[in-house]
Amino acid sequence: MAGFAGKIVLVTGASRGIGLELARAFADAGAAVGYAGRDADSVARGRERLGEGPRLRGFAADLARSGAPERLVAAAVEAFGGIDVLVNNAGIAGPADPWQVDEAEWDRVQTVNLRAAFFCARAAVRHMKARGGGSIVNVSSVAGQIGGVATGPAYVAAKAGLIGLTRSLARQFAPLGVRVNCIAPADIETDMTAAWPDELRRRLVALTPLGRFGTAREVCGAALYLAGDDASFVTGQTLNVNGGIYMG
Ligand SMILES: NC(=O)c1ccc[n+]([C@@H]2O[C@H](COP(=O)([O-])OP(=O)(O)OC[C@H]3O[C@@H](n4cnc5c(N)ncnc54)[C@H](O)[C@@H]3O)[C@@H](O)[C@H]2O)c1
Repeated sequence: MAGFAGKIVLVTGASRGIGLELARAFADAGAAVGYAGRDADSVARGRERLGEGPRLRGFAADLARSGAPERLVAAAVEAFGGIDVLVNNAGIAGPADPWQVDEAEWDRVQTVNLRAAFFCARAAVRHMKARGGGSIVNVSSVAGQIGGVATGPAYVAAKAGLIGLTRSLARQFAPLGVRVNCIAPADIETDMTAAWPDELRRRLVALTPLGRFGTAREVCGAALYLAGDDASFVTGQTLNVNGGIYMG
């Protein structure tokens, strides 16, 4: 697979879980990596696992806040001198029960999962354009494709929206040399899924042809493929990393 030596990568939601493994995988592939978390504490926890140095920097940015995506991208560009790859991974699930969702919770789920992805992407593309192109990978979910078994309507709508956003941006930014693709994982062992009850986990495993949850590490190959030169003719696509639970 293509290496990332000399490339600058920014991963959001990288203080733990899938994002942390993505940041590690890009760094192992030779990239300079900015890893972002919601606040200083979460970045510090990411730093304990990833380290910090000339090719690794942590950034705190609460992406639910207005202007945070632009400030995050600006900070990464200032630290590394540009940006070649953006991974929009930050996400929150919100309540699964539709009767428990209030307007503030609905807005928060849309903002972190979807609005922030758009504004991070637009801010990053301004800099990618100056470097002759780049690549964006959005982390959606199987929930946005099948309606969500463990997650509720706000999350499902946001993740389906992210697939639509990917297609829109793929068209809009192609003339600038920027490819935009999406990953749709299902049921990966992280803090997000650790709290799910055993009965739900058993039900999900039974629905999954490969018969288990995946690991965060197993999501990385798809992201590196889509972000790198091996995928130079691939844009607007969704790559499913889901053990076969959905075959679309
Ligand atoms: N774990 C799964 O089974 C699964 C399946 C499909 C999709 N996903 C998606 O993958 C991504 C990562 O999931 P995970 O399981 O690693 O989750 P996680 O909860 O372990 O990590 C989420 C990350 O997002 C960050 N984040 C949350 N709110 C934020 C905010 N307001 N501002 C900035 N960052 C914020 C957190 O700091 C953390 O780093 C999410 O987008 C999630 O929806 C996960």
